[in-house]
Amino acid sequence: MVKDLFDRIKSDKGPLGKWADKAEGYYVFPKLEGPISNRMQFNGKPVVTWSINDYLGLANHPEVLKVDGESAAKDGMAYPMGARMMSGHTKYHEQLERECAEFVGKEASYLVNFGYQGMVSAIDALVAKDDIIVYDMDTHACIIDGVRLHAGKRFVYRHNDIESCEKNLKRATKMAEKTGGGILLVSEGVFGMRGEQGRLKEIVALKEKYNFRLLVDDAHGFGTLGEGGRGTGYEQGVQDGIDVYFATFAKSMAGIGAFFAGDKDVVQYLQYNMRSQMFAKSLPMPMVKGALKRLDMIRTMPELKDKLWEITRALQSGLREAGFDLGTTQTCITPVYLKGEIPEAMAMVHDLRENHGVFCSIVVYPVIPKGMIILRLIPTARHTLEDVTETIEAFTAIREKLENGTYKKIAEAIMTA
Ligand SMILES: Cc1ncc(COP(=O)(O)O)c(C=O)c1O
Repeated sequence: MVKDLFDRIKSDKGPLGKWADKAEGYYVFPKLEGPISNRMQFNGKPVVTWSINDYLGLANHPEVLKVDGESAAKDGMAYPMGARMMSGHTKYHEQLERECAEFVGKEASYLVNFGYQGMVSAIDALVAKDDIIVYDMDTHACIIDGVRLHAGKRFVYRHNDIESCEKNLKRATKMAEKTGGGILLVSEGVFGMRGEQGRLKEIVALKEKYNFRLLVDDAHGFGTLGEGGRGTGYEQGVQDGIDVYFATFAKSMAGIGAFFAGDKDVVQYLQYNMRSQMFAKSLPMPMVKGALKRLDMIRTMPELKDKLWEITRALQSGLREAGFDLGTTQTCITPVYLKGEIPEAMAMVHDLRENHGVFCSIVVYPVIPKGMIILRLIPTARHTLEDVTETIEAFTAIREKLENGTYKKIAEAIMTA
C-alpha cells in the first residue's frame, strides 16, 4: 500500500516547524508594526529595532516613498507583464542595469526578481556537468541550493580558511583536468551571520596559481562597504578580480530584486540561460523606478553610509567595552555571542523585548552549535546614539540575569507549568 504523502508532513514538521506552536508570532513570524524605522511597535509596545536590513535608512525616506508611490499610481504593480525575454522588457530595466553595472565597475549587469532565486539559477547556468564548484562552508542558503542543482563535482572549504580553500582548489584542478571542465569558486563578500568579510583579496591572489572564475554574493557589502558603498570588492581593492558580482536590492537598497554584474558576454549568457528569469515575470516598474531612485541616493548621499558607520562603531565599541564577545565581525553586522540553552534564550529575548524595549534577532541551534546563543544586531543610518546607549544598558542587564540563572528558572517554571 502506498503511504499518504502527508503522513510524514503531519508527524515531522521539520527542524524549525516543530517549534511553531511555542514560537510562532513571537520568536518566529513576529509582527513589527508602524513605519520602518529605528523604533517600531512590537506586541503593542515601542521597541528599538535592530533586526531589519535597511542599512542606509532608505526604506522610509520621503523621496523614496514619493517615487515608489508615483510609479505605483502611474504604472500599476503589474507593468510590464510577462518574462523579460517575451514581453516584460522596458527601457527602465535597461537603464537600471546600466547604472548598476557602472556603479560596481563592471561592463554590464542583469536584473533578477529575487536574489535567492537569481543566485540558484545563476550557479545552475554558469556550470555544466564537467565543471567543478568550490565554495565556502558558511555560504547563504541560495548558494547551497544553487550548488545542489549542479550535476558535477563540488568541493567545500572551511569557512574563510584560505589554506582549506587552496587545498580544495588543488583537488578541483586535478578533477577538472580529468573532466575537461572549468572551476567556479563561490564566496560571500560579507557573511551575514557572523559579519566577517570574505577573504576576497587572498582568493583573488590564488588566481595566479589556479585557473578559476570567482562569483561573489555581496548582499551585505553593497551599500555598506568600499568607496561610495560599491561593495566588498572595492573595500579590499579587488573588484576587477571578481568575475561575477552579485548584490540584492533587499538590504541597502530597501527594495526588492537583485543583479549580477560582470563582462558583457558573461552577463549576456546569464540573460539567456538563467531559468528563474527566462520563465518568470519581469520585475514590476515601481521596483525598477524605485531602485533607480535608491541607487541615485546611494551615489549622491555619502552621508548615509557615514552615519551607518558612526552608529556601527558606537554600538560595537560600546558592547566590547561592556565586555561582550562580538566574535570576528569586520562589518556592520553585530553578533553578540552568549552561552545558554534554547529555553533560556527564549526567556531572555522575551525580557529584552517586553521589559527593555529592544528587538533584535535571536539565533540558536541548529543554525549554530548547541549551548550557544547569538543576538544579532543590524545597525542602520536611522539609529541614534541614544538607541545605542539604551541597547548596551539593556544587554548588560539581561546578561547578568542569564549568568545568575534567572532565565533558566523562568524557563523551567514555564516547562513544568
Ligand atoms: C547573502 C545573501 N544572499 C542572498 C540573499 C537573498 O536575497 P533576496 O532577499 O533578494 O532574495 C540574502 C538575503 O537574505 C543574503 O543575505
